[in-house]
Amino acid sequence: MKTITITALLFLLTVPLLPQTKMNSTDIDKKVKTFLERKEGSWHEANIPESDGKLLYDIIIKNNYTRVLEIGTSTGYSAIWIAWALSKTGGKLITIEIDEERYKAAIVNFKEAGLSDYIDARLADAHKLVHQLKGPLDFAFMDADISTDYFDATAPRLVKGGVYVSHGVRNQNSEYANYLKGLKEFETNFNTGGGFCISKKK
Ligand SMILES: C[S@@+](CC[C@H](N)C(=O)[O-])C[C@H]1O[C@@H](n2cnc3c(N)ncnc32)[C@H](O)[C@@H]1O
Repeated sequence: MKTITITALLFLLTVPLLPQTKMNSTDIDKKVKTFLERKEGSWHEANIPESDGKLLYDIIIKNNYTRVLEIGTSTGYSAIWIAWALSKTGGKLITIEIDEERYKAAIVNFKEAGLSDYIDARLADAHKLVHQLKGPLDFAFMDADISTDYFDATAPRLVKGGVYVSHGVRNQNSEYANYLKGLKEFETNFNTGGGFCISKKK
């Protein structure tokens, strides 16, 4: 698993690292760590495991990504890992959730983790909203219903070297997987660990 994870990161590390932001993140680190420790074992709304959260965090930091979209917030566990990384790169996350209860719980979690400033949480149907959002993206994390609709709306916004991560693609020969494999503008890697299917824009 460790080898697979390293392979995944190497796959992504072609974008040169830029200098880290001037932000002193000690206080944020303390607050997020305390929050995550307190909430350990309580993430039951289809949230990703901690190992996947760490992987998201590493990908963002190592590539100095700043403009991030997440589809499928749930109660905000993955968004917290993403936003924690963005607190260091100086970026911002837009995350979309359709379920009002989960959205509300996420808002509380973002506040308690001290990361609200790095997150623009939207209560919306992502199938509609992804077609309305504009502007360049470095990174997209799709963790809702697997659909090429999200990909097609988001892919043109990704910068060269940017990545679209689809979570939960278990069958590498599924219609969705074959669609990604067939795209000339993207290189898609399924053996990345963490249940991530990573499509990188060439
Ligand atoms: C697997 S969970 C996301 C888990 C979250 N990324 C985490 O790890 O903390 C998928 C979420 O996508 C949401 N979802 C499903 N369809 C959606 C849609 N069309 N628009 C927005 N959110 C949607 C579900 O309500 C659910 O909360």
